[in-house]
Amino acid sequence: TVQGVVVKAKDAPATIESIVIPDPGPGEAVVDILTCGVCHTDLHYKLGGIGDEFPYLLGHEATGVVSQIGEGVDDVAVGDRVILNWRAVCGQCRACAKGQPQYCFDTHNATQKMTLEDGTELSPALGIGAFAEKTLVAAGQCTKVDDDVDPAAVGLLGCGVMAGIGAAINTGEVKRGESVAVIGCGGVGIAAVAGAALAGATTIIAVDIDPDKIEMAKKLGATHGVNSREQDPVEAIRELTGGNGADVVIEAVGRPETYEQAFYARDLAGRVVLVGVPTPDMKIELPLLDVFGRGGSLKSSWYGDCLPSRDFPMLVEQYKLGRLDLDAFVTERIELGDVEAAFEKMHGGKVLRSVVEL
Ligand code: APR
Ligand code: ZN
Ligand code: ZN
Repeated sequence: TVQGVVVKAKDAPATIESIVIPDPGPGEAVVDILTCGVCHTDLHYKLGGIGDEFPYLLGHEATGVVSQIGEGVDDVAVGDRVILNWRAVCGQCRACAKGQPQYCFDTHNATQKMTLEDGTELSPALGIGAFAEKTLVAAGQCTKVDDDVDPAAVGLLGCGVMAGIGAAINTGEVKRGESVAVIGCGGVGIAAVAGAALAGATTIIAVDIDPDKIEMAKKLGATHGVNSREQDPVEAIRELTGGNGADVVIEAVGRPETYEQAFYARDLAGRVVLVGVPTPDMKIELPLLDVFGRGGSLKSSWYGDCLPSRDFPMLVEQYKLGRLDLDAFVTERIELGDVEAAFEKMHGGKVLRSVVEL
């Protein structure tokens, strides 16, 4: 058995349990985990907000080394350093066939089950379950990357940091010299700022209600900060872009008023990217004359529209070249037993990422 962090019932504490990992079946791999970041989604699992399939094995922003492979696995080999992803695409559905695998609706995970010692089947968070010494995944969830880098830093590409960077470079298609405004600079928004900087945007406006977040965003490439408690963010973004609005506006909060701000802060033909996840009842009103007159687009961004096989190695390379500061996202390094304490710290807003090292 190996040790892993499990939540046995809704809002029960996350505790370390002994876990049985089966041998990998066809198309599956066992990965020895090196690091795993603590993400809001793990907390949602614990609180019962994602499903009722307790017990959950938490953790999903991870790097590791492949230690066993099943039949027919040829993309990764034993000994490979990998970053795990939660969307192993099928390659065959309508979305995949259209060349849009980021919308694949038949993503898969390992079909064999990890269990507690008494045989109870575990539900791994996002089909990963990486707050553990080892985990079992579909081989397609493993992307080989260089192994001469800090795993704690590059492992964050597995979830929230990829969502933010991808919102800028994939969904927003930010180009050199453009202006970008990011509304909401939590972990995802700050990553969007870093993505905009990587893409060569020259004006990058970080909007938040927390001055500390704005300062952090400036460390990752924001050229201007706007506190929406002190200034109307739409007016401020217009002023900072010569009265025009931003070429790309990224919403990373998930509230009706910030969705509206994002829409009104766009330039002529500006692209609005929604990353913040709405609740089912949320609606906004769009004035059609403005849509018609100023044009542009409104796109949602899901997991940063990433293709792990394309984006993970590319971003690791940018990190190695010193163009993408992934270290800045690692606020603290902790042990498996500290996950519960890390959840507590999420509310304070001072921690970008706590990363478990195994
Ligand atoms: N205007 C601007 N910023 C705001 C506002 C507002 N009205 N309200 C909250 N914020 C800021 C917070 O201060 C915080 O910095 O938005 C940020 C949200 O960050 P986090 O709570 O850390 O969330 P994060 O993990 O970054 O995710 C943001 O993206 O992927 C989605 O589900 C995720 O909807 C969530 C969003
Ligand atoms: Zn996550
Ligand atoms: Zn598919």
